[in-house]
Amino acid sequence: MCGIFGYIGKKSASDLLVKGLLRLEYRGYDSSGIVVKNGQLQSYKDTGKISEMASALPRLKGSMGIAHTRWATHGGVTKENAHPHVSNDGKVAIVHNGILQNSNLLRKRLTKIGVELNSETDSEIFCHFIAMELDQGKEPLEALQSVLSMVRGTWGLCVLFEDYDYVLCARNGSPLIIGRGKEEMFVSSDPHAIREHTDQLVALEDGQIAKVSARDFQVMQTDGQEVESMLLHLEEEWSESEIGDYPHFMLKEIHEQSESLQHCISGRLRHAEGTSVLGGLQIQPQNLAQLPHVRLIGCGTALHAAQIGQILIEQWARVPAVSHVASEFNANDPVINPNALHLAISQSGETADTLSAVKEIQRKGADVYGIVNVVGSSIARQCGKGVYIHSGPEQSVASTKAFTNMVGALTLFSLQLGRSRHLSKTKGKMIGREMRKLPDKIRTYLENPGPINAAVELILKAKSVLFLGRGISSPVASEGALKLMEIAYIPCLAYPAGEMKHGPIALIEENSPIVVIAPDDGVQERTLNAIHECKARGAKIILIHEEGDPISEVGDICIPVPSTIPMLTPLLTVLPTQLIAYHAALELGNDVDRPRNLAKSVTVE
Ligand code: G6P
Repeated sequence: MCGIFGYIGKKSASDLLVKGLLRLEYRGYDSSGIVVKNGQLQSYKDTGKISEMASALPRLKGSMGIAHTRWATHGGVTKENAHPHVSNDGKVAIVHNGILQNSNLLRKRLTKIGVELNSETDSEIFCHFIAMELDQGKEPLEALQSVLSMVRGTWGLCVLFEDYDYVLCARNGSPLIIGRGKEEMFVSSDPHAIREHTDQLVALEDGQIAKVSARDFQVMQTDGQEVESMLLHLEEEWSESEIGDYPHFMLKEIHEQSESLQHCISGRLRHAEGTSVLGGLQIQPQNLAQLPHVRLIGCGTALHAAQIGQILIEQWARVPAVSHVASEFNANDPVINPNALHLAISQSGETADTLSAVKEIQRKGADVYGIVNVVGSSIARQCGKGVYIHSGPEQSVASTKAFTNMVGALTLFSLQLGRSRHLSKTKGKMIGREMRKLPDKIRTYLENPGPINAAVELILKAKSVLFLGRGISSPVASEGALKLMEIAYIPCLAYPAGEMKHGPIALIEENSPIVVIAPDDGVQERTLNAIHECKARGAKIILIHEEGDPISEVGDICIPVPSTIPMLTPLLTVLPTQLIAYHAALELGNDVDRPRNLAKSVTVE
């Protein structure tokens, strides 16, 4: 949700800033802009895609600058509301990610003293107040501290000054990292935008400020007290962010799932013991034995992964497990048992709703383990323990390979938990063996994905699409519906197959497309009942089933996936739903990687 990129070094800043923004485009893409210091501050901004802004960008010389890509919150999508915002004397420029709650009051205060405001944003107040503080003879750091003491809300903030050779950054609730290069520094909302320049980074914590010059940076608390920050290492997998020969990142990421799942499971399965080892999720055996329950929390795709994890944990470890919509979690003043296990699941590690649930659980005395993709992200650091899912950078707003690896990591964890309780070694070995085969099965399916185009053709003729699944396939149905809705803008409803007759059946008309996820998993027979009920009312069934399964007789369009054991089927049955969404969006001429109104990382509650 809004991306920030900054460069302080010796190279031409403008090119690096544009490149950095392009890497962050999935965070927001309604407008963008950059400001570079070359004696004076020179800025340029516009609405539309970053590539459009970049192609109109005048030559801006200078080796220090900050840039922003916006996802509008306060103020519409206009050139004026785009960042950077520059003070009226031209001496201070800012880019801001987050929301200021008292901006109305502060805007009024500025207007009252005669400061001309140039946008409708909450962010703009920063540059004017900082400029006023400088006018009164304060140093930049002091000026920033004083302004931060006035504002309430969240910020990832970068400030560039005409008269000083450093950038000031501040974080409260919106991520900012500093990448350390050789006589050059980078600032970014997300680590993967800097990985091509450096593999060393420091993540700012809430309430911290950093002073960043080309050779050095200092991190301090808002009161100026210096703090020692831990330098994190960003692994090689984070550099693979070029689109290559693929037309869209989404298609690339769908095809990367075989390899990325391999990364997630490799080295973590222990065949001889029939178990898995997730270093960050090692829990004392006596605590495991007494575990009262497990809660899993996430949003969007991560929530669907959590719902699958819930079923896996109950099935294999026989511990009660429940998944929660993160944005609802705190609203219900949940009872937290400090002996229970809490898992926060997030690709970006920055989703504000999930982070806020983590803090609530911690406030009530329990630990939370993160199951996160982005290294050093806020949720990963707030939890302080957990595992990385190792998907590498995911740039399409619609999540695909991160879903697979969330489910992969939860599968490994459920196996580990199961084995430390009642799951037999023989069953553990069988699960491990089947898991190892999955990357190949994913590859095989993607080489020959079946009649996706026929399914898309049917879907595009309809007003809405119903997705059905039962048991472990029910969250897969939800994920399929989410994907199609996100990028094709088609109204979709996902329902547990058995519940269909209690409501959605009223929607069915002649030729209504219904996507049914029906692996041979022991509950399939009852899914068949739902299929017959739909067919009797004229629906057309797009059936996702395992290869060679006679259930294909009831499908109008049948998409077979390689077979596996029931609990692992989501890692295969989800693939056709991703391809259906991708091709439907493509047919409709939508921007597949940058769907309207959405942002990949939602850092506001
Ligand atoms: C946004 C994105 C979704 C994503 C969700 C959770 O809503 O549009 O695609 O699943 O956030 O994101 P997270 O980074 O926490 O997994």
